[in-house]
Amino acid sequence: MLFNIATLLALAPSVLSAVTDNGAKKQRNVVPGGYIVEFEDVMSVASDTKSSFYSELADKKMNPTHRMDLSSSLFKGLSFHVDSGLDQTVVASDIQAMPLVRKVWPISLYDTQDFVTAPYVNGSNSTGSSDVFSTHLMGHVDRLHAEGLTGNGTTVAVIDTGIDYLHPALGGCFGPGCKVAYGYDLVGDDYDGTNTPVPDPDPYSSCNDHGTHVAGIVAAGPNPYNFTGVVPDATLAIYRVFGCSGSSGDDVLIDAFTRAYEEGADIITASIGGANGWTEEPWSVVVSRIVAAGTPCTLAAGNDGSEGLFYGSSAADGIGVIAVGSIDNIESPVFTTYGIYSVDNSTTGQFGYLEAAIGMPNISLPLWAVSEDSTIPGDACEPLPANTPDLAGKLVLIRRGTCTFDTKAANVAAFGAQYIMFYNNAPSLTSASVTDPDILGAAMVSAEQGASWVATLAAGSAIQVTITGDLTVFSSPANNVTGGHMSTFTMWNPTNEAYVKPEISAPGGNILSTLPLAQGGYGVLSGTSMATPFVAGVVALMKQARPDLDAYTIRAILGTTGHPVTFNDGTTTYDYLAPVVQQGGGEVDAYAAVYTSTVLDVANLAFNDTAHFVKEANFTITNRGSSDITYNFDYVNAATAYTLPDDGSTQPQTFPPDLVTSGASVHFSSGSISVAAGKSEVVIVTLSPPENLATARIPVYSGFITINGTNGDSLNLPYAGIASSLKDATVLDPSTGYPYITSTSDNTFVPLDPGTVFTISLANATVNDTISNSTGLLVPNLRIGLVMGSSLIRADLLPSNGTYGTYSNTTTILGVKTLGAIAGTPTLYQPRANAWSTAFYGVLDDGSRVPAGTYSILVRALRIFGDATNPDDYDSAGTVPFTIRYVH
Ligand SMILES: *[C@@H]1O[C@H](CO)[C@@H](O)[C@H](O)[C@H]1NC(C)=O
Ligand SMILES: *[C@@H]1O[C@H](CO)[C@@H](O)[C@H](O)[C@H]1NC(C)=O
Ligand SMILES: *[C@@H]1O[C@H](CO)[C@@H](O)[C@H](O)[C@H]1NC(C)=O
Ligand SMILES: *[C@@H]1O[C@H](CO)[C@@H](O)[C@H](O)[C@H]1NC(C)=O
Ligand SMILES: *[C@@H]1O[C@H](CO)[C@@H](O)[C@H](O)[C@H]1NC(C)=O
Ligand SMILES: *[C@@H]1O[C@H](CO)[C@@H](O)[C@H](O)[C@H]1NC(C)=O
Ligand SMILES: *[C@@H]1O[C@H](CO)[C@@H](O)[C@H](O)[C@H]1NC(C)=O
Ligand SMILES: *[C@@H]1O[C@H](CO)[C@@H](O)[C@H](O)[C@H]1NC(C)=O
Ligand SMILES: *[C@@H]1O[C@H](CO)[C@@H](O)[C@H](O)[C@H]1NC(C)=O
Repeated sequence: MLFNIATLLALAPSVLSAVTDNGAKKQRNVVPGGYIVEFEDVMSVASDTKSSFYSELADKKMNPTHRMDLSSSLFKGLSFHVDSGLDQTVVASDIQAMPLVRKVWPISLYDTQDFVTAPYVNGSNSTGSSDVFSTHLMGHVDRLHAEGLTGNGTTVAVIDTGIDYLHPALGGCFGPGCKVAYGYDLVGDDYDGTNTPVPDPDPYSSCNDHGTHVAGIVAAGPNPYNFTGVVPDATLAIYRVFGCSGSSGDDVLIDAFTRAYEEGADIITASIGGANGWTEEPWSVVVSRIVAAGTPCTLAAGNDGSEGLFYGSSAADGIGVIAVGSIDNIESPVFTTYGIYSVDNSTTGQFGYLEAAIGMPNISLPLWAVSEDSTIPGDACEPLPANTPDLAGKLVLIRRGTCTFDTKAANVAAFGAQYIMFYNNAPSLTSASVTDPDILGAAMVSAEQGASWVATLAAGSAIQVTITGDLTVFSSPANNVTGGHMSTFTMWNPTNEAYVKPEISAPGGNILSTLPLAQGGYGVLSGTSMATPFVAGVVALMKQARPDLDAYTIRAILGTTGHPVTFNDGTTTYDYLAPVVQQGGGEVDAYAAVYTSTVLDVANLAFNDTAHFVKEANFTITNRGSSDITYNFDYVNAATAYTLPDDGSTQPQTFPPDLVTSGASVHFSSGSISVAAGKSEVVIVTLSPPENLATARIPVYSGFITINGTNGDSLNLPYAGIASSLKDATVLDPSTGYPYITSTSDNTFVPLDPGTVFTISLANATVNDTISNSTGLLVPNLRIGLVMGSSLIRADLLPSNGTYGTYSNTTTILGVKTLGAIAGTPTLYQPRANAWSTAFYGVLDDGSRVPAGTYSILVRALRIFGDATNPDDYDSAGTVPFTIRYVH
């Protein structure tokens, strides 16, 4: 059989643009009853400190169980669980009050940042020669490889899901002398984030693809697909922080980072995160400390680009951290599986397909189409006519659309069908979701392939389709739609405190790298997860070439030697630059980062909001070359992005936000400056924000200061600011439905009507399913969701009729007489677009229990940059009244 390569290449692009769907909103979850404490500096986590701490908790009846020692030069503390069935988090304030505790945080859970974009395939072997790997061309890594700079002598720490180091491209072994020379498994296979980690010294894992893919982007060696990592001669140190499923706690992440730091990594990278946008989370704090102590850290900016602006991620949002955004590969590598077909036993051809999740076994069957019309909208959505033939022994061809795959499956299964070939009604292929137990195999072909078959069948010919599953072809066609532009999934900033993030972007959309051998050895994934190890590799190249560079200088060089890219919304490219809060310094340039003589002291300039406007920013320009350089300064604006969809709204718009081209005007203390070899000069920058903007929509303006040196250096210093006062932005908007009361027994969180009666068991103070009132409801559960981030959210209890007659203990909080904060509140540093629950067992944060009665809860969320002592700086809203009763 002859396979026409041109046909295969033409088909491939549609196969791979299949999945970049961002799915559901991320939730920032915490481990129930799980805490991290940091002890005061003088304390070490000596066993007596630990045991006295735990015995104090035991005295308070918290029933602590130890989780992890967090003992390093940068962080001394512990993580532990208290009985999550106890009265809620009165615990936190009690622990914070203990003299040896500097700070206590709940344990937050974080996830990896990737998407699967293509099916996997088994590789064979062979080696490549000169570096023509598309992402290396994009980031100018090929030029450094051509000079023999390949990371030799550097160690990159990868904090991830572990690695299949038996993979030949990853060295095939673990330990001294191997590519993967160091590492540790902090958690074990069974860890899911909420249970206690079971460490062991071996970071091997093949149950997850993520870590092996990430590690290959850093340091893969020669392989049959002719690519290598950015630093194929670097040493890897692998710290495993995920089990085979679930998330990772920030105690584990803190331990992994401090371990990597103390074990001497040159750079630490983690493609892990969760929506946050505040710099104060414990993991972000520790990563910032590691950077301050000298080790650069690269962190994935996050994949929630669909959420719009002000949606930063931890620990990427940490101060000094190098947050990395994603750019789509200029090629779309894909592994396509092919089948063959014959028409009337004579002509033959081949077709690419994508298996459904249930798979498609090897078959050879005649094709039968439900409809002879290949434009029919609802093919097989209704029961088939009674004169339909027996479909057993046939491959049934159905057009996608209108109803679910399962509805279509059931209608053909009613006539005995067992195998279905869908054809798409849109470009690309998607994995059909078929769960009908009668269906043994399903797959999808392109719209064009389906239409061609339907026409052939309608003309009276017979088609025999054969699938053997062993014909997989790798191809890597050009991506001329989004290649070289920001991936639509890449997260948008600024942070809630107006920090400019990400620092830089790198190829992360449609990336070929290694997978565990058990998962086929090679595959294509997308995410800021893939962009981040690329930049980690670039940092290793910088370290190899310029070992004297400190972590802040590395960040500044990366952020200012990149190339700004124009905006693309997934289908169309515009002639204006993508906002800095999406792209940072643009596409990373490894060659410029290694060779620039011109070094700035900042990665970007933040002009803050109008209330905290930076009237005079500056940067220091250093000439590290051997002769004088004269620099010219100019600037180019990027598009200004509106956070909110219109003047009246409070909820940020989803991707793509509205962009306008009016930008700032930027002035320099001098339009050009001459800097002697080895010397530095300060340049003052003043800026006038763009005018005539709809300020109520929270416009974020940005651009690049262009700095051209007479030696040929060309830098782009990103700047950004907010053309409104963030304190004016609503953070809590009752019209979104929050806050409200639901029941702890309802995990779909349906709001309850006013006057709902809850019955709480005093016997145990936990949810007791054997006790319920007439409505079957149990413990009130307060749900809060924000439209913008808030650093302080109060939830205070009020008697529902407003009279305090029978209540002896009242507290006036921010000018309102209340019964006190409910246990587990206030809550700190919440991101927007995230809802969380606090169960109310009738207990206040001082541990006292309120009598049975009818109450409501007043929720107040501090606006960004608000004064926590000023009631006017909060948005407030009350819940409906609800009644609690107690039973023994
Ligand atoms: C591929 O591997 C086989 C054995 O595993 C070896 O004989 C062959 O030389 C390899 N080919 C290349 C191109 O490396
Ligand atoms: C890396 O450097 C070491 C010496 O530091 C040398 O022994 C080794 O051969 C080098 N490896 C490569 C791939 O250049
Ligand atoms: C890798 O390079 C070899 C030698 O140039 C070539 O034969 C092979 O087809 C390449 N592999 C891929 C996947 O492009
Ligand atoms: C194709 O060949 C098979 C036997 O090999 C035969 O049964 C069938 O009738 C032929 N179909 C056509 C359309 O010629
Ligand atoms: C992209 O490439 C495809 C196929 O190579 C071509 O049909 C299409 O016109 C190109 N689109 C653009 C915008 O260049
Ligand atoms: C913006 O100003 C506020 C208030 O002074 C400050 O807390 C914040 O850190 C500033 N942001 C930046 C990026 O400097
Ligand atoms: C430059 O800015 C920093 C704050 O970012 C400030 O501390 C410093 O005084 C400024 N230097 C000059 C010369 O204005
Ligand atoms: C620097 O050069 C780039 C093109 O290489 C140009 O777009 C920019 O305006 C120049 N800036 C200055 C200050 O000359
Ligand atoms: C309290 O709850 C725990 C588990 O949540 C259970 O083991 C215990 O039996 C309960 N005690 C009573 C008195 O119900």
